[in-house]
Amino acid sequence: MIDQARQRAREMHTRLTQEMQNLKQKRAEGVNATRELRIVEELRALARRTEAELRPSDTTRAKLRRVQSRVLDEARFLRQWAESPLKTGAVAPSGQELSRLMAGYVELDRPGVIVELGPGTGAVTQALVERGVPQERLLLIEYSSEFCTLLRERFPQATVVQGNAYALGDVLDDLGNPPVASVVSGLPLFTRPLPERQALMSAAMAAMSPGAPFIQFSYALVPAVKGLVGITWSTSRWVIANLPPARVWAYRSDEGVAAVAA
Ligand SMILES: C[S@@+](CC[C@H](N)C(=O)[O-])C[C@H]1O[C@@H](n2cnc3c(N)ncnc32)[C@H](O)[C@@H]1O
Repeated sequence: MIDQARQRAREMHTRLTQEMQNLKQKRAEGVNATRELRIVEELRALARRTEAELRPSDTTRAKLRRVQSRVLDEARFLRQWAESPLKTGAVAPSGQELSRLMAGYVELDRPGVIVELGPGTGAVTQALVERGVPQERLLLIEYSSEFCTLLRERFPQATVVQGNAYALGDVLDDLGNPPVASVVSGLPLFTRPLPERQALMSAAMAAMSPGAPFIQFSYALVPAVKGLVGITWSTSRWVIANLPPARVWAYRSDEGVAAVAA
């Protein structure tokens, strides 16, 4: 069974290599094929990763199911990205190393819910659960209805809200303003204007006690949120293995200072 799956992944890789060359040829002839090329390149890389993960010595169904599930998640992600690149913000879910690094910033002893903004297919959510966060403490706010359905299946005890994470204050109001222990965000913040990012950060800080972290991963060299009084940040090491390489930013507010635009 594993051998057949590897063979299919290999054939897919060969076909996609051919398609990639066709598209490069079209581009050389002046046809705008940049988006198609990016999709085909990602699918080709996905086929290669799938083949590499399915070693001939792996005989268990469980292994095959795990790989299938991961590949399906990557394909779902890629489709969402192709439909709306700015909202999805990445072509693939965060890898395990980055997800675990994000989850490591959550302070389990702080009382309150742990809010995840833009959980996608649940890569970071899974790392949070593995870190010891009970699903009941999770509030997941996600735009995509397809991802919300998946999240409800995977984390049945978590609260999943399909909606706009930038309306965090309203979502918390609707839920009776529970105390918030940490905010974990996978949102592609740079696709929104700075005042919107600042407003989101201010709403998050207002819901948390001073010093609680707003945890954000980013591929950028500069902070996504700046110009707020009383907010400091620290950054992690780079996770080179992630696609693309990323690092974690933890923003915190000072005691007794409201996070407002400077
Ligand atoms: C870069 S992906 C990160 C997904 C996941 N956290 C991960 O690390 O694999 C961004 C996610 O944020 C979601 N998203 C983007 N804008 C959003 C918004 N305004 N409200 C809620 N979700 C949003 C996208 O649908 C996507 O699932």
